[in-house]
Amino acid sequence: MRPSRPDRRAPGPGATRPSGQLAAHVAYFRELGVSGVSRDRVWRLRPTDPEPSPATAPEPVAAAQPEPCAAVAAGAPVELSMFDQVAALSAATAEERLRLIREELGDCTRCRLHGGRKTLVYGVGNPDAALMFVGEAPGRDEDLQGIPFVGRAGQLLTRIIEAIDLRRDDVYIANVIKCRPPDNRNPQPDEVRTCEPFLFAQIDAIRPRVIVAMGSFAARTLLRTEDAISRLRGRVFEFRGARLIPTFHPAFLLRSPDRKRDVWEDMKKVRSILQAG
Ligand code: URA
Ligand code: URA
Repeated sequence: MRPSRPDRRAPGPGATRPSGQLAAHVAYFRELGVSGVSRDRVWRLRPTDPEPSPATAPEPVAAAQPEPCAAVAAGAPVELSMFDQVAALSAATAEERLRLIREELGDCTRCRLHGGRKTLVYGVGNPDAALMFVGEAPGRDEDLQGIPFVGRAGQLLTRIIEAIDLRRDDVYIANVIKCRPPDNRNPQPDEVRTCEPFLFAQIDAIRPRVIVAMGSFAARTLLRTEDAISRLRGRVFEFRGARLIPTFHPAFLLRSPDRKRDVWEDMKKVRSILQAG
């Protein structure tokens, strides 16, 4: 049946269709569990989440700030030269520092994981990024391509980044572990001890303002805690001069899409810290 009056929802002669970019935005938000956008201009233009008040301010986590050399002392003396070089190069660019750390890693055989890898997955993105994402370890796709977060979980991560109006190229993405564990098993403690100094060095090279630790493995490793990710997320920690925000891993979100809403809340916090300058 034809409507007797023009359908007011249909675009009129002068109306423009949503641009591809806007449509893509709407799709990201839907994906992240954001069900609608308020039409109330005042509400839409309200300031985003304020900086955490002193009561909820970043909780100093003493154990979450290990000195680089403590990690070295834990059993990887060969890394000392890397830290020396990075320290010596503190006036150089972040790109230069990252390149040095990559050279130090070389064709790494420091732990058993090298035996099963195709490609060492170092990290990608903007060396001067204000925002860094840290995952667990490469999976199959990452091992093949040598780039972190390129599989299904990675595609979701890309949309999460775009949901706060950034692109993958704007941020830096790395993992705690640089080589794929066999059958994607959990990394073992000695593998973490051997590999994590390189992540810490990457963080020190980039000096991001915000680090998002994705999933319980990254969050627990960085924060030196056994707490569950569900207890850690929603809070802001201090870590190596940055604010660290734990959130759910995108692979977990693929299995539990109802938790996307929580990740969206965490990402809004990330955005407001970045915007606060
Ligand atoms: N999961 C991770 O933790 N890291 C990757 O690079 C890919 C999947
Ligand atoms: N367990 C994990 O390891 N990561 C998550 O993000 C959620 C549950």
